[in-house]
Amino acid sequence: MAKNVLLTGGTGFIGKHLTDVLLDSGFSVSILSRSDRENTPLVTYYKWDLKKNYIDKNAILNADYIIHLAGEGIVEKRWTKNRKKVILESRIQPIELIFSVLKENNKTLDAFVSASAIGIYGAITSHKICDENTPPANDFLGTTCQEWESSVDKINSLGIRTVKVRTGIVFGKNEGFLKKLVPSFKSGFGAVLGTGKQYLPWIHVEDLCQIYLKAILDQEMIGPYNACITDNTTNSRFSKELAKLFGYSIWLPKVPPFLLKIVLGEMSDAVLEGQRVSSEKIQKMGFEFQFTDLEKTLVSCLH
Ligand SMILES: NC(=O)c1ccc[n+]([C@@H]2O[C@H](COP(=O)([O-])OP(=O)(O)OC[C@H]3O[C@@H](n4cnc5c(N)ncnc54)[C@H](OP(=O)(O)O)[C@@H]3O)[C@@H](O)[C@H]2O)c1
Repeated sequence: MAKNVLLTGGTGFIGKHLTDVLLDSGFSVSILSRSDRENTPLVTYYKWDLKKNYIDKNAILNADYIIHLAGEGIVEKRWTKNRKKVILESRIQPIELIFSVLKENNKTLDAFVSASAIGIYGAITSHKICDENTPPANDFLGTTCQEWESSVDKINSLGIRTVKVRTGIVFGKNEGFLKKLVPSFKSGFGAVLGTGKQYLPWIHVEDLCQIYLKAILDQEMIGPYNACITDNTTNSRFSKELAKLFGYSIWLPKVPPFLLKIVLGEMSDAVLEGQRVSSEKIQKMGFEFQFTDLEKTLVSCLH
């Protein structure tokens, strides 16, 4: 019988792609969602209601692997005090619920893999290259990712292998980061943000899904792995490439940091700063990125 992979947040951008990859690889797939969804011949849906601390336990009891992707969008709304709480709790509370079901039922898993983010290294622009041993930053994203990853360690305390995928900015066709930017670039109004010197470590969604697949299959993988290309792409280079693909050179002045701070508040840090991140650890595990060239990757996402 096919092994079952349970995805939390499997209805989102990464989860949809990952579902296809897992099915193609011979796994059965289940998804935990906050909304009622009809099962399909290929995917079984289970419900949870985090506000009521409710979870359909069968989701966990039938799973061989869990991949945790659920969480409120990080850059969807201004980071008010309440929004920050929601961003953090929507990632941690699901892990707590899963932990209690596993513990109460003496249930084990072949692996628990969780999303995390390169934001753990902080909103800093420097020439330093962050690897998995770089200490977490003290800013909002740094502390959020740290707490998120610490909750994953609770699952590890049950003797379950755990992997944390510290994800860069994910590129996909009309999805995620590009979905937000493409309309303005397409209309000829693309612009460099701030100094443009901030790094933008990116990954194509197909490569990311292959990392998740490897994380469940490869028993040697334990702990954090950076998942992004280390090609030193900056916001300036990215913006110029994107504009070029729409047939023009950027003519607008750089968007000044103060303006972004007024519009986005503290969240502006996430676009005005960006660090260099090493992917050496995952590559040393034998992983080969298929999308390594920025221009070709953007072309594949736009056509
Ligand atoms: N996309 C990126 O560039 C990127 C970069 C770094 C890290 N990541 C991380 O990777 C994970 C998946 O990203 P994604 O881009 O696929 O996200 P997404 O498209 O926003 O999907 C996330 C899913 O999480 C569930 N969700 C949303 N709010 C929730 C809440 N308050 N409580 C519980 N579940 C909630 C939703 O599923 P239901 O509505 O079905 O419940 C949603 O489909 C996230 O944790 C994200 O932070 C993404």
